[in-house]
Amino acid sequence: MTDRLLITLTVNGEEHELLTPARRTLVDVLRHDLRLTGTHVGCEHGVCGACTVLVDGSPARACLMFAVQAEGREIRTVESLAGPDGLGDLQRKFSEHHALQCGFCTPGFLMLAEGFLADNPEPTREEIREAASSNLCRCTGYQTIVDAIGACADERREACGAVCGRSADNPADERSRA
Ligand code: FES
Ligand code: FES
Repeated sequence: MTDRLLITLTVNGEEHELLTPARRTLVDVLRHDLRLTGTHVGCEHGVCGACTVLVDGSPARACLMFAVQAEGREIRTVESLAGPDGLGDLQRKFSEHHALQCGFCTPGFLMLAEGFLADNPEPTREEIREAASSNLCRCTGYQTIVDAIGACADERREACGAVCGRSADNPADERSRA
């Protein structure tokens, strides 16, 4: 009997069929088998968040999940954020706000923020802080990361203003960002 299983993973909208050991983690499959090395590995036991990806839209630790558990789910990695014109809006905000130094934690923070903003497009500063506290950064400090996520939320809200039928300049639509 073999412990290898044939699975199909959907990653960044593409389907991949692969034979994998039952206990191989999702992060190892992403990095070593699919060569999506943007997802980083730090602690390998669910603490640092460097391996954060989106699973069905929600942030998840890819080091704590077996690849076989991801079959049938939609996986998004940091490679999905950039578009044909270059960096995505969240990546640009991290750059503009100097929200990274060594960059090791950055893919995890980006995917954490992507999932968080999809769930909460108008977060307060406090809510961003709380969300960001689930991942570890050892060299930038959290202030600029929180700034970048807040700036991205603001930009998306402004871009959506006309479409969503409300204005970001309307005080009635504003929530506290103090
Ligand atoms: Fe997964 Fe640290 S490598 S949480
Ligand atoms: Fe270095 Fe976060 S930028 S650990």
